[in-house]
Amino acid sequence: IKPVTIPTLQKQYADKIPITMLTAHNYPSALIAQEAGMDMILVGDSLAMVSLGMSDTSEVTLDEMVMHAKAVSRATNRSFTVGDLPMGSYEISPKQALASAIRMVKEGRMRSVKLEGGREMAETIHKITSAGIPVVGHVGLTPQRQHALGGFRVQGNTVGKAMSLLRDAQAVQDAGAFCVVLECVPQDIAGEVTNALKIPTIGIGAGNRTSGQVLVQIDMLGTRPPDSFMPKFVKKFGDEWSSSLDGIRRYKEEVTSRSYPAAEHNYKGDTKVTDALRA
Ligand code: KIV
Ligand code: NA
Repeated sequence: IKPVTIPTLQKQYADKIPITMLTAHNYPSALIAQEAGMDMILVGDSLAMVSLGMSDTSEVTLDEMVMHAKAVSRATNRSFTVGDLPMGSYEISPKQALASAIRMVKEGRMRSVKLEGGREMAETIHKITSAGIPVVGHVGLTPQRQHALGGFRVQGNTVGKAMSLLRDAQAVQDAGAFCVVLECVPQDIAGEVTNALKIPTIGIGAGNRTSGQVLVQIDMLGTRPPDSFMPKFVKKFGDEWSSSLDGIRRYKEEVTSRSYPAAEHNYKGDTKVTDALRA
């Protein structure tokens, strides 16, 4: 197995081959994402909501992120792994951020970390990358700052805001990030930001002109209940909820009707033993 490395990703970017990224939250979801050929696997803090049932990402701790990262790392010998630094684990100082990033690498076994923010995070990104830990930036809609942003909404939609988004992406790049996630940005604005940068942009809800795409696995596979809120940009590439629901219902039915377990599932016992028990 040839692992994906930063030079591999840079070559792919230079060759204009879109970079594919997907989240994974545990061992099986990482195994399957890698098997399907994902270049990058992200242990995103979106796991707070989709895997842990929390109401937003602010609740998940670094300890919890590290535990999920560990599970993902046991499956990923090819895909390039990224561990999200959760809210509260990197904003206080570059030193705090580096300590958290080191935990994500040493304990979580991730190859890189991702953190949210633009210019104000430049010094922090520089600190982490200077220690030899690759950083993925994240600008545009930054869910950890949802309350300051006024909720989940499209970003960069005025000249001033788009300029500011571009400055943020450039600052993240200049601070040493090797790629940057652009979330919830109109396609052509994301396209212009992509053109202005020398590092790959990975879009989510940012149209088709970015250097790559990322989605949350549980969203794109349709693993969540059908009435869950789903942003406009999510495409359902699977219907896990229906197929799992169907499987569990059939299990219930077959247990209730005693058609499962059937002969082929049973261990053969010695009739002499049964006879002795009966006597
Ligand atoms: O937490 C996450 O899953 C993410 C991606 C959506 C980029 O940050
Ligand atoms: Na995230």
